[in-house]
Amino acid sequence: ATTLGASAAATGRYFGTAVAAYKLSDSTYANILSTEFNSVTPENEMKWDATEPSQGTFSFGSADQIVNLAKNQGKKVRGHALAWHQQQPSWAQNLSGTALRNAMVNHVTQVATHYKGQIDSWDVVNEAFADGGGGGRRDSNLQRTGNDWIEVAFRTARAADPAAKLCYNDYNTDGQNAKSNAVYAMVQDFKARGVPIDCVGFQSHFNAQSPLPADYQANLQRFADLGVDVQITELDIEGSGTAQASSFAAVVRACLAVTRCNGITVWGIRDSDSWRASGTPLLFDGSGNKKAAYTATLDALNGG
Ligand code: G3I
Repeated sequence: ATTLGASAAATGRYFGTAVAAYKLSDSTYANILSTEFNSVTPENEMKWDATEPSQGTFSFGSADQIVNLAKNQGKKVRGHALAWHQQQPSWAQNLSGTALRNAMVNHVTQVATHYKGQIDSWDVVNEAFADGGGGGRRDSNLQRTGNDWIEVAFRTARAADPAAKLCYNDYNTDGQNAKSNAVYAMVQDFKARGVPIDCVGFQSHFNAQSPLPADYQANLQRFADLGVDVQITELDIEGSGTAQASSFAAVVRACLAVTRCNGITVWGIRDSDSWRASGTPLLFDGSGNKKAAYTATLDALNGG
């Protein structure tokens, strides 16, 4: 096929992008979005600070804009993110203990209920494990409410929106290392105890310091073998030209080689849309032209 989304759909997968609601009025952006992608992830609009700016008062306008566009264009939506230590509203940052736990549970319930039936996959919990060799949880206000906060978030999301796939999402878990081993142990434990988890998201933010790992496919496969889908959720790769293009192709080939890798999302459309301020990590240049990385990604999706 001739677009990213249609090519991915030919193997039963999606190819998505992060979307910012305020950019939907940019016609270059909107045209690429409608043509190339069959899944969207709101880049910031579903985060806690955006959806519950004051406690108990919910604000869904920007996120609804993206969900409605997806509905009109037949695209899937990845919900991002119900529980995360970052991008919390200041009122939540000031809570702890039972008050914070109850606020988190209410937040998950309200947001998942608002979008009930409309989300393909939710990032229920984002970035809860520590970096480095320790293999432990990240210290955060949510973690300090008790080690069971992650499973409580998953059970709460399942109760609110039983049809959505529920994912754990993280970065620097793309290869086998202490952090991904710790996530692996959690997923294994959740599966053994019947805690509802359906998917694991691998953010896949790659650059010179943190390149595409040689064991990327093997790592995706070992998680899939636990009985969860695996998804590449925030892909971007610093660089340019042939080297960047072949890294994107390698990511696509790894996903296609894993039956339960059911979708890939890039973290933005044009280089100028990237969170990496001065980088060029995406598939379209700042003017919306297709880069070599685009062509390599499309070819790989089509089996080339
Ligand atoms: O909306 C305000 C605006 O009113 C204000 O004038 C402006 C001034 O800085 O900030 C705007 O908010 C920014 C927001 O992006 C929207 O542009 C925030 O400061 C900024 O922190 C926020 O950054 C986002 C970041 O997550 C927040 O943690 C990035 O866009 C977004 O790409 C990034 O995405 C994360 C994923 O959620 C999780 N994984 C890592 C990934 C990259 O960091």
